Amino acid sequence: MASIPAAADAPAATIHETLDRAAAQTDAFLSDFLSTQSQCPAPLMEAIRYSLLGPGKRIRPALAILCARAVGGNQEDAMPAAGAVELIHCFSLVHDDLPAMDDDDLRRGRPTNHKVFGDALAILAGDAMNTLAFELLAVGVPDARLALALSRELAVATGAQGMIGGQVLDTCHPRQADRAAATLADLQRVHRMKTGALINAACRMGALSGRATPAAMNHIDAYGKAIGLMFQIVDDLLDVTATAEQLGKRTGKDAEIGKLTYPSLLGLDATRRHLTEQLTLSINAAAALGPDAAKLADLAHMLAARSK
Ligand code: IPE
Ligand code: IPE
Ligand code: MG
Ligand code: MG
Ligand code: MG
Repeated sequence: MASIPAAADAPAATIHETLDRAAAQTDAFLSDFLSTQSQCPAPLMEAIRYSLLGPGKRIRPALAILCARAVGGNQEDAMPAAGAVELIHCFSLVHDDLPAMDDDDLRRGRPTNHKVFGDALAILAGDAMNTLAFELLAVGVPDARLALALSRELAVATGAQGMIGGQVLDTCHPRQADRAAATLADLQRVHRMKTGALINAACRMGALSGRATPAAMNHIDAYGKAIGLMFQIVDDLLDVTATAEQLGKRTGKDAEIGKLTYPSLLGLDATRRHLTEQLTLSINAAAALGPDAAKLADLAHMLAARSK
């Protein structure tokens, strides 16, 4: 269905080269998929392309691709999973930025989707990306059993018990008194649901596409859970320590609106300790997968130290 640039990533490539290549391949794959939507109204296609193909890091597709390779599979088989996860991620970002949610004007260094296209089209572009993710799995994965398994992973990670449930816990504020009494377990629940679930799904779906054994799947799951929580810990940290120019999105916002975050609950030093704890867990899980998973450890180090 979609064209994929040929030669595979060289084993000696740096993690940055590997990520750049995975991002370019994902964008080409998604762009081809969007071109199958010939009946899509032009303004909707424009709003979808603006967010889906905008300058994001494409970490989730890279995780799907690297996890497929870590379990002995190949990249081409992981592309539908990689693309579907990025579609859900972009849907979540467009809705997260809406005035009724985080009310943000800047995303990936550019005006947010609703600032450019208006609230109605932004909501509908998010809705469309949600359903396009599942269409991509249905039409892009020839093995029906695998397509079903991938859809199930993605639906659970996206839905009421995953990202959307986490966004409810994060956004539909409990009363101030409840928030003041929040514990580390409450915070981890929000972070694992709103961000960790989809990141773990990217890893698991990549591994399923690479035909992982049950034993390898357990290590992938441990890696995905640790890296997923770590990703949101770093996001919280950067909201305090980075600039909007660096991140391409507004900073200082979490504290301003009283979000429950690692720095607000624990302070910066303890936040960094928790980050290191999740980094160690992810590196141990990558090591257990063997030499094909070396890039997963590199990626974990890079994500722990990222500045955007
Ligand atoms: C931002 O995710 C939202 C979170 C879940 C923390 P990313 O930092 O992966 O955003 P992009 O895709 O690179 O813009
Ligand atoms: C985002 O969390 C989680 C999503 C599911 C989008 P944030 O609200 O902290 O993400 P940013 O900081 O706006 O990217
Ligand atoms: Mg949010
Ligand atoms: Mg936000
Ligand atoms: Mg944030």
